[in-house]
Amino acid sequence: MTGQKGYIDSVNAHYTPGDLAANVLNILKANGKDLDNLSPDDLALVDQLHTGGKGATLELAKMAGLTPDMEVLDVGGGLGGAARTLASQYGCRVTVLDLTESFVEAGKEFTRLTRLADRVHFELGNALQMPFAANSFDRVITQHSTMNIPEKPKLYSEVYRVLRPGGQFVFHEIMAGPNSPIHFPVPWARESAISFLIQPQEANDLLTGLGFREVSWKEDEAGETMEGTAGRLSVPSGQPGATPQLGMHLIFKEDMKSIFASVARNFAEDRLKRYFGIFEK
Ligand SMILES: C[S@@+](CC[C@H](N)C(=O)[O-])C[C@H]1O[C@@H](n2cnc3c(N)ncnc32)[C@H](O)[C@@H]1O
Repeated sequence: MTGQKGYIDSVNAHYTPGDLAANVLNILKANGKDLDNLSPDDLALVDQLHTGGKGATLELAKMAGLTPDMEVLDVGGGLGGAARTLASQYGCRVTVLDLTESFVEAGKEFTRLTRLADRVHFELGNALQMPFAANSFDRVITQHSTMNIPEKPKLYSEVYRVLRPGGQFVFHEIMAGPNSPIHFPVPWARESAISFLIQPQEANDLLTGLGFREVSWKEDEAGETMEGTAGRLSVPSGQPGATPQLGMHLIFKEDMKSIFASVARNFAEDRLKRYFGIFEK
C-alpha cells in the first residue's frame, strides 16, 4: 500500500462485496418484505457493522443526548444503519461520511427505501480531510471506524474543527488492548496495512491535548461479546433451497468465519478493548 490512494483503494477493496444493495433487496423480497414499506429495522442485520448492533447505537444516542434540532455527523458511518436509527428515533439530521464508495451508494439506496432521505445525507470522503466547514455539527459520533483510520492527531483535530463550541464527540470504538500484536483477519482489515489501533490513554491524551474536555470514558465490558455478534449475525445453516437471509456474510463472504473467530480470540487475549466516550469542545 503506498500513499493516500493506496490506502483509499485498500479500504474500498476490504469493504466492497459486489452488488451489496441488490443482494440485500433481493433477500428482503424473497422473505416477503414490501420494498416500498421498509423500516430501518428491516436492514439491521446487515447495516450495523459494530458489536451490539442497533442496541449499541441506541446506547450511543442516549449518551449523546440527541434532540430533533441537532446536526449529527457519523464518521465512517458505513451503510448508514446508525444514521437511519438515530434520524427515525430522534428526528435529528445525520450526515454519514464514509470512504467506501459501494457503502455510500448502497446506503443512499437504503435511505431512499426507508423514506429518510430528508434527514440522512451521505458524503463520500476521508475523515482526515472532512468536506465540511468549521463549527458545522452539534454531535460527531463514530462506531468501530477509527481503527481503520491512520494519523489520529489529524483525525481528532478534524472532529474538533467541525464541531460547534459546546458540541460533543461521542464514540463507541475498538482500541488496542494491553497485549499485542492482534491476530488477523478482523472485521476492519484482513491484514495490518489498514489497521491503525492506538492505546486508550493515547487517544485520551490526544483529545484533551486538542482542547476537548472529557465528559465520560468507559470500557464496553457489559456489551455484546464477539461470539455473541458472530452468533447473532451468522448465516443460518440453511438446507439447500432454503430462503437466503440477511447477515454479515453478505459483506465478508467466505472470510466471515475466520474474521469472527480471530476477533473473538483478540478480545479473549486482551489484544483488543472497546470503549464508549464523550468529549466536549
Ligand atoms: C467496521 S465499518 C463500521 C461502519 C459503521 N460505523 C457501522 O458501525 O455500521 C468501518 C467503516 O469505516 C470506514 N472508513 C475507513 N476509513 C475511513 C476514512 N479514512 N474516512 C472515512 N471513513 C472511513 C469504512 O469505509 C467503513 O465503512
